[in-house]
Amino acid sequence: MKNIKIEINLEEFDAVSELPVSIQKLMNKAHEAREKAYAPYSRFKVGAALQLKSGEIVTGNNQENAAYPSGLCAERVAIFHAGSQHPDATFVSMAITAKSLNHVLASPIAPCGGCRQVLAEYEVKQDPSIEIYFMGETGKIIKANSVKDLLPLIFDAAFL
Ligand code: THU
Repeated sequence: MKNIKIEINLEEFDAVSELPVSIQKLMNKAHEAREKAYAPYSRFKVGAALQLKSGEIVTGNNQENAAYPSGLCAERVAIFHAGSQHPDATFVSMAITAKSLNHVLASPIAPCGGCRQVLAEYEVKQDPSIEIYFMGETGKIIKANSVKDLLPLIFDAAFL
């Protein structure tokens, strides 16, 4: 037996104003998308904005359903929309923000495991890494340089 140590590096920003200007704009788009989320059951609204290499920004928000598992997370709504409309696009970065209607989310809210897996599919397919920035409603922002930093033991098409 031997131990395997996996090290990841994340960056933390104290406020949106500390982010590069292009990412501030992307986070603003995520914020706008978040406000339009359909989340009557969880009262937890999430917005995601995906920056394409072409300059276009594709957004998404969580869409819930009375049959709970039929709903979809904001990140997947955004990336599936981008994948369906721009099948050959390169995805550069994604900004994510979450807000609860019950209490203030002041710490970064990381994407769920299912969204990490979906993001990984697109990152592996295109090769350049996708930068992921995520935050709550307010407060610090975390940046991961690659989906692989959020999902170290990746499952991808190479296994099939
Ligand atoms: N949600 C997202 O949109 N993204 C995530 O990464 C985690 C969770 C949504 C799903 C559901 O509508 C609500 O947040 C509460 O789980």
